[in-house]
Amino acid sequence: MTPRARPAAGPDGARRVKGDRLSLLQLLAGRGASHSLVIVTSAELGTSLGISQQSADRHLVQLERDGLLERTIAQRRQRVRLTSTGLSVLRREYHAYRRIFEGPARIRFDGQVASGLGEGRYYLSQPGYVLQFTERLGYTPYPGTLNVRLRPEEFLRVGSVSDWSGIRIDGFEASGRTFGGATCYAARLSGRPCHLIVPDRTHHKDVIEFIAPERLRDSLNVVDGDEVRVEVEES
Ligand code: CDP
Repeated sequence: MTPRARPAAGPDGARRVKGDRLSLLQLLAGRGASHSLVIVTSAELGTSLGISQQSADRHLVQLERDGLLERTIAQRRQRVRLTSTGLSVLRREYHAYRRIFEGPARIRFDGQVASGLGEGRYYLSQPGYVLQFTERLGYTPYPGTLNVRLRPEEFLRVGSVSDWSGIRIDGFEASGRTFGGATCYAARLSGRPCHLIVPDRTHHKDVIEFIAPERLRDSLNVVDGDEVRVEVEES
């Protein structure tokens, strides 16, 4: 089975928006609604998009309902501003085009090997995850995650992978509890192929996690505090 690559839902759950609705978001952002409230009328938005005023209005209502923009209406004029979810939709579009013209995105930085609470072994041993990793990554990971601690600016940069296409691992229920989903990205740790795994929900503020077929501490010959070169690449 080939790995199933698809855009990851961002931390804010930004989803695909298409057609006139997407054009409307782009138009509004271009007019400054990406960072401030702008005054618009559905008539002029309709004209710009080549659709009726009613259609433009309907799209505005739907975008608001979907949490992609905020609006206030007074005396037939409305003020609109994109929400962070609306911006994420555009960022994902931007990323898709960036990839077409500039190729797969890649980030590189250094980090330090760190220990966690030993939870990785528990999660990576769950059959519900193991099956998916084996099918979608093409190997059965060593049971655990290698933690790498980053400087705050590097940790922020890693956040941008949520706009990339990654390999999705779905959440599931087992033994009366819920196991969350995650997205994996092809990576190298000091040259060793592995995957960055980004859980949908995480409390980490400066640590990222990697999975690999083998115990990376052995293959890289590293202990806590050692520097590793991290490279993450879009699938
Ligand atoms: O929470 P912590 O990272 O300390 O532990 P874990 O995720 O349960 O993983 C068990 C041990 O295996 C830890 O020392 C990890 O750093 C290590 N590990 C590794 O060297 N290579 C992997 N591919 C996965 C985990």
